[in-house]
Amino acid sequence: MGDAALLKVSAPVRDLDSPELRALLLDMRDTMAALDGAGLAAPQIGVPLRVVIFGTGAPNPRYPEAEVVPPTVLINPQIEPIGEQVEEGWEGCLSVPGMRGLVPRYAEIHYRGVDEQGRDIERRVRGFHARVVQHEVDHLDGILYPMRIVDMRDFGFQEELFPGEPEQDE
Ligand code: NI
Repeated sequence: MGDAALLKVSAPVRDLDSPELRALLLDMRDTMAALDGAGLAAPQIGVPLRVVIFGTGAPNPRYPEAEVVPPTVLINPQIEPIGEQVEEGWEGCLSVPGMRGLVPRYAEIHYRGVDEQGRDIERRVRGFHARVVQHEVDHLDGILYPMRIVDMRDFGFQEELFPGEPEQDE
């Protein structure tokens, strides 16, 4: 956070078949796995393209209580909220290490995009899955979760807010 690159609007991917995209996805997967995150957006590793990856697969040690989200590569994503229900939940971010904040998100969304083979992805999801997708797609529009916190008293160091709990970034 503080790097101006994270505040830019990223460009759509035009060519799904490029070696650059393959290299980017490899780099993103490695980064997410190394940092044990639940999601990652391309601008977080310095690439201003509309690519996000997310998923917890097997229960993530960092999110033992969270529902399993299928490992997903989502390119050129679009989100539509379903209904107006908004839920607050705690978020962290690999670009804002060590911090957590309480962020309102749509409880249920419909999202679509394509995977790296160009296959359509279209899902209706709620809860944690919906939250992760909204967080990651925000990165593509230059939005970091602290910008969405309603009451800044609900923003702080993870170790102060949740002493003794394992770190939870992103
Ligand atoms: Ni993030």
